[in-house]
Amino acid sequence: MVLTELRGDGERRTALVTLNRPKQLNALNDALMDQLGDALAAFDADDTVGCIVITGSEKAFAAGADITAMAGFSFMDAYKGDFITRNWERILRVRKPVIAAVSGFALGGGCELAMMCDFIIAADTAKFGQPEIKLGIIPGAGGTQRMPRAVGKAKAMDMILTARMMDAAEAERAGLVSRVVPAAALLDEALAAAELINAQSGPSVMMAKECVNRAFESGLADGLGYERRLFHALFATEDQKEGMAAFVAKRKPVFRQR
Ligand code: HXC
Repeated sequence: MVLTELRGDGERRTALVTLNRPKQLNALNDALMDQLGDALAAFDADDTVGCIVITGSEKAFAAGADITAMAGFSFMDAYKGDFITRNWERILRVRKPVIAAVSGFALGGGCELAMMCDFIIAADTAKFGQPEIKLGIIPGAGGTQRMPRAVGKAKAMDMILTARMMDAAEAERAGLVSRVVPAAALLDEALAAAELINAQSGPSVMMAKECVNRAFESGLADGLGYERRLFHALFATEDQKEGMAAFVAKRKPVFRQR
């Protein structure tokens, strides 16, 4: 259900995680999400991995949570089974960058999964949406919270209340995705972005991710204070010495991840 491989030949590699339930358009069920959570936790703990890319198939990143698995749920099934938080929030615990490479449908939980990643690179075929309202439910893995933060209230309300889909161009204009690339180049572009990140100092990358995420969880003064502390802290790293010495000596830095 989830395929994993390591890509790249640098000192730090990229973990590529492919959602693989093609017949169901990568509909997300507990088994798949358990595997995804396990894979992410393992790669996060692996010092040879700098960055993680999550992708799906050409037709679908993921068409949402598995409707057949949820159809018969009672309130207690949903509540006690913790269908959403049991394994979905493991994605948020990953400290290394996670890039979503989205081709085709990213709907419902699939769109929410993409939005849990640090940024989204979209193929020009990508289609985003939160169609849960058509099923008599609402988004349940962060859609009502992350979509307005990404695209603003008006467009988020439009998407969530009408259930319409947004194409890649609109998603880029709205700020949901960082860039749109031709479908055939999606994986290469995502892996190239990951390689750029892998070449940096890992501690700086992790702290930068922490700080950007803090922007969505605090007021401006708190966020600025948090950034200032981590900025100062990075002067205790060997990589800061190396990065600046390399700049002054006009050579490439060799980061040692400490
Ligand atoms: C289970 C799904 C599925 C889903 C597609 N399939 N989406 N199965 N759960 N979310 C299955 C179809 O039933 C079908 O199976 C096969 O995948 C191919 O899909 P088709 O519908 O035949 O393909 P197509 O006509 O191209 O339409 C694609 C589609 C449509 C527009 C993406 O499949 C669709 O609307 N899917 C549902 C999207 C959705 O509502 N997502 C939100 C789910 S709720 P068979 O066996 O017939 O071949 C959600 C809540 C999240 O995500 C909360 C957090 C956990």
